[in-house]
Amino acid sequence: MQALLLQCLAFPLTLLIVFLLARSGAILSYADVALVQGIVACAMTRLRGLAVWWLGIQLVFPLALTGALSLVFELNLPPLLFLGVFLFLLALYWSTFRTQVPYYPSGKWVWNEVDKLLPKGKPLLVIDIGSGLGGFTMEMARRRPESHFVGIELAPLPWLLSFLRARLSASRARFVRGDYDNLDLSNYDAVFAYLSPAPMSALWNKASKEMRPGSILLSYEFLITEKTPDIILMPTGRGAPLYGWHF
Ligand SMILES: C[S@@+](CC[C@H](N)C(=O)[O-])C[C@H]1O[C@@H](n2cnc3c(N)ncnc32)[C@H](O)[C@@H]1O
Repeated sequence: MQALLLQCLAFPLTLLIVFLLARSGAILSYADVALVQGIVACAMTRLRGLAVWWLGIQLVFPLALTGALSLVFELNLPPLLFLGVFLFLLALYWSTFRTQVPYYPSGKWVWNEVDKLLPKGKPLLVIDIGSGLGGFTMEMARRRPESHFVGIELAPLPWLLSFLRARLSASRARFVRGDYDNLDLSNYDAVFAYLSPAPMSALWNKASKEMRPGSILLSYEFLITEKTPDIILMPTGRGAPLYGWHF
């Protein structure tokens, strides 16, 4: 949102620069103007102190926008295509601008480690908070038929796909659409999280208030800095660790 606002704020300044250049006889093309807008937005982003990777995005964004616009005219692309792509990305990422947790899947290594860590010989209720396309939840439900695995997902498209995948493959995994912030974590024997650094402190606040004695919180890749983990598992070779906290 800040990046977008900075682009809007940069626009009047760009117009002023273009106006002054035009008065001195320099007439700019649309691409030139887009470049000026990118440079101004980039400078404002630097002043605002946003993360360094925003600088590149801010610089290229106006050029990409004018490039996309010229594609509409040159290739005769229907403008509805852009609306379609926008709606697709919206359904995929939904409120990532707020949660700062985009979709990316976990893989076999972490599924195996979680499987080893979860207590055996008794039925468990396990939740994947931010279940994405449901890979983790469905695989666990297949490996542990005596237990119940639930995934909760905020973004509509990943949730719908996980729901359909479970239905079509007759998986016992269950998927609900919603915000894990509204869940009561005391209902679960284990909570699995693969999120991002942004929500980890808030997750710890919630988990430490709600999770019941004997339960376990597992986080793939992202550490909770407030509390030293009881478990740290590193993959051999490249890859992120799995952290665990006992309650
Ligand atoms: C990195 S993906 C992890 C996917 C999955 N757990 C896996 O291991 O493959 C994180 C997911 O969490 C979802 N998410 C982010 N914040 C959430 C929230 N507050 N409630 C529910 N889902 C959330 C995102 O939409 C994204 O799909």
